[in-house]
Amino acid sequence: MKSKLSLFLIASILLIACKETPIVDYQIIPQPNSIIYSNGTIALTNNVKVFFTEDVTNEADLLKEYLIADFGMNIQTVENEKDADILLKLDNQYSSEKEDGYKMDVTKKNIAITSNSQAGVLNAVQSLRQIITKEDGKFVVQQGTINDYPAFEWRAFMLDEARHFKGKEVVKDLLDEMALLKMNVFHWHLTDDQGWRIEIKKYPKLTEVEAYRDSTEINHFHSDLYDGKPHSGFYTQEEIKELVEYAAKRHIVIVPEFEMPGHSSAPIAAYPEFGVTGKQIKVPGQFGVQYDIYDVTNPIVLDFFSDVFDELIALFPSPVIHIGGDEIRYNQWNDSYKVKSYMRKHGLKTPAELQVFFTNNISNMLKEKGKRMMGWNDITGAQLHEYQSDEDTKDVSQKLADGTIVQFWKGDSALIVNTIENGYDVVNSYHNYTYLDYNYEKIPLTKAYSFNPIPNELPKELESKVLGMGCQMWGEFIPTVEDMQKKVFPRIAAYSECAWTLPSNKNYDNFRKSLPYFLNRWDENGVVYGPLD
Ligand code: ACM
Repeated sequence: MKSKLSLFLIASILLIACKETPIVDYQIIPQPNSIIYSNGTIALTNNVKVFFTEDVTNEADLLKEYLIADFGMNIQTVENEKDADILLKLDNQYSSEKEDGYKMDVTKKNIAITSNSQAGVLNAVQSLRQIITKEDGKFVVQQGTINDYPAFEWRAFMLDEARHFKGKEVVKDLLDEMALLKMNVFHWHLTDDQGWRIEIKKYPKLTEVEAYRDSTEINHFHSDLYDGKPHSGFYTQEEIKELVEYAAKRHIVIVPEFEMPGHSSAPIAAYPEFGVTGKQIKVPGQFGVQYDIYDVTNPIVLDFFSDVFDELIALFPSPVIHIGGDEIRYNQWNDSYKVKSYMRKHGLKTPAELQVFFTNNISNMLKEKGKRMMGWNDITGAQLHEYQSDEDTKDVSQKLADGTIVQFWKGDSALIVNTIENGYDVVNSYHNYTYLDYNYEKIPLTKAYSFNPIPNELPKELESKVLGMGCQMWGEFIPTVEDMQKKVFPRIAAYSECAWTLPSNKNYDNFRKSLPYFLNRWDENGVVYGPLD
């Protein structure tokens, strides 16, 4: 009887204790992989004392910047750990399942962040920003421990500025949102039929001619309606350097994409000798897949590629260079006596095989320059488009160079599985789930959230070949920043969770509960966003 009574008393005390300090769930996007809550909170005053080891000075600087901007806090650096409210520490003893992980311990004394990498420390900082709440004029954080690491190493957002140039401030804002969402690859689509957006010193006409078009197709593909307004813009190399540095501070790698052999009308407009026909063309204002392509059998074209790579490599420290390779109309190659005789000489039976052969030469060129090639999954030689005939794509006996990263965007799941079984690392950007230019009827937030970069049919032992995923903001019909934002937000938040959170930890209801932090932030920053259901 006595013990029953004491059990009742203990239970009541616990209940009262719990009632007094209800646990406030951390609402973080992307959802961390492990959270263990403790009872109680820590209150931060407006004067926050930060301790950090020297090797994370950059991350501490960003933390301070964030705390000032987000909460108007005053930040003071302290030399002694014991005096600190927030501690950032790089610790070689720390280990997590995957790179860029972190541990964050929130106790009644302080908030301690530990990782073995600077990126991991910054990822923790991004989580911390989301769990500070304001209560009665005080900043309060629930006590608990987060152990977190990413499901995938490649967590990409792609921006196409070839179609509509946006400029560096817009890119910086996007990089800030990416960092908050722990996305680490900014895939930058800088060249296409409708424009060339990067200064290349050896080929000045690229930005004198190709960065400019006189009119732009509007509304949708094949509308045949044009705005009649000139559109132009490009990044100087100085601006590129500034953005690469801005991204690197936030642990984001910028992967530049230089399209070849198709999507190349703009560079051919500047240097007609690089095209198959040699004819002067205009930078098209029409969207959709164009006909003009490079004459890849011409040594001056290969020299051009090599020269552009040299300038890109000097600007972008990324270990990977993207060469596009998508959506080729083979008509001009088929119609060219010169290209045909080159194919015969090299034993290439079809234009698709020429594409793989050419792409492998580019892979070698990049390898010699110390870089790894990446391209859209068209570069495997598979037939993906109705405008490529069976004749164009049969008999591809050339095998795409080993070590290529294949960005899968089109085809059925058998194709992605087959690509992986053939030994390639893959970034999954399957268009039906990850294309941000698609409207919300086609890809509502729920569908974006449901994307799993690992195809169901993939054997378990090959899962590590899926490096991660990308979401792609194609630029044809987003003339304004607002048009772009409405498509990107809020779906980018869903994609961040597809890329970071282990599929077993994903939960759409939790995600929706965590979204208000972002909605408030976007509202405050004048960022417009699309529908939430
Ligand atoms: C693509 O959407 N053309 C890669």
